[in-house]
Amino acid sequence: MKHLAFSWSMGVGLSLATIAAGSAVAATGGGSGGMSSMLPAGIEQSGFGTLPDGRSVECYTITNANGIEMRVINYGGIILSLETPDRYGRMDDIVLGFDSLGDYLSPTYRQANPYFGALIGRYGNRIADGRFAVDGQTYQLPTNDGPNTLHGGNEGFNQKLWNAQPFSSSDGRGVVMTYTSPDGEQGFPGELATRVTYTLTDDDALVIDYRARTSKTTPVNLTQHSYFNLAGEGNPSILDHQLTINASAYTPVDETLIPTGEIAPVAGTPFDFQTPTTIGSRLGQRDTQLAYGKGYDHNFVLIKNAAAPQTLTRAARVVEPNSGRVLEVETTEPGLQFYSGNFLDGTLVGKSGQPYVLRSGLALETQHFPNSPNQSNFPSTRVEPDETYHSQTVYRFSTEDNLP
Ligand code: GLA
Repeated sequence: MKHLAFSWSMGVGLSLATIAAGSAVAATGGGSGGMSSMLPAGIEQSGFGTLPDGRSVECYTITNANGIEMRVINYGGIILSLETPDRYGRMDDIVLGFDSLGDYLSPTYRQANPYFGALIGRYGNRIADGRFAVDGQTYQLPTNDGPNTLHGGNEGFNQKLWNAQPFSSSDGRGVVMTYTSPDGEQGFPGELATRVTYTLTDDDALVIDYRARTSKTTPVNLTQHSYFNLAGEGNPSILDHQLTINASAYTPVDETLIPTGEIAPVAGTPFDFQTPTTIGSRLGQRDTQLAYGKGYDHNFVLIKNAAAPQTLTRAARVVEPNSGRVLEVETTEPGLQFYSGNFLDGTLVGKSGQPYVLRSGLALETQHFPNSPNQSNFPSTRVEPDETYHSQTVYRFSTEDNLP
């Protein structure tokens, strides 16, 4: 895997303090447990409860110049809420989630495991049989999705308490989250010092920047698992959202959602989102891939500039016709998992008191392809100790005014 050059001069055994100090953005106060009076303008901090082991969780409310408001907690790096205007300027919360920590810790939630709003690591998406080899040595991970490992194992980054540092910079304001995963955690080799920066910009974008350094060669695939409903969370369906994906191919899967290795054209299939298409329009088709996914739960091969594959390029665009809300996704990653909320079944009740029913939210997870450690024809997820993993994704919010 080729990684963007980055000037961390950090070796192995990185401390969290070193990572925070190496931050490319200027932290201007705050920090976990910091006094809110020291916080940058546009950021508020409040307690969000206590984990069973006694550690306290902090919530950061970040507001931009146009009133877009995002709430993030340092447990799992979870985005709790994201309020954006519709085409009349009415604000709505467009991501699925809960208002209390207890909801994210409950057995019911753990059982359903939807990963609402969370940072995902070390390996977003699936690794077949939870097994891969690095330079001849085999590693076995805990399996948590049938025979496979999903989203980093039984206790992925979505369940970690991250160190958080609020900041403001010329780009906007946000929170830097750091977490150092010990060597061998969830079966992965190497200590992985991870830093994820959420920046809410004044031109209405959420920029997510991921960096990591490892002490041993290891696969890394970090992503974010927000579920969007651009009509507002609690609305029962995303099927009328119109989706465009900048992909002419996707990676078909077997019945356990592991890619077969084939890079298949989307043309002529229900996976062709090259022009704006209503999400629900082809879900009823008899299609083996849709059947395996119980809907859309597939990785799309994004069209990239071959000469500069890690450039930030358009991945997807979603339009909700009634509100006029538009979500655009750009990424440096080669893939995008489009998941149409097929496992939501109404068991979980969200912030507005509405049950999150089948297909009431959609996820657009920018990533390397699933099971890349076992697929030599996929872009590599291998990270070496002397390089920095770097990836960036932008979620951009706007409205379309001229809709019927
Ligand atoms: C990813 C997976 C889905 C599902 C969700 C969480 O999107 O691809 O199959 O596991 O996470 O429910």
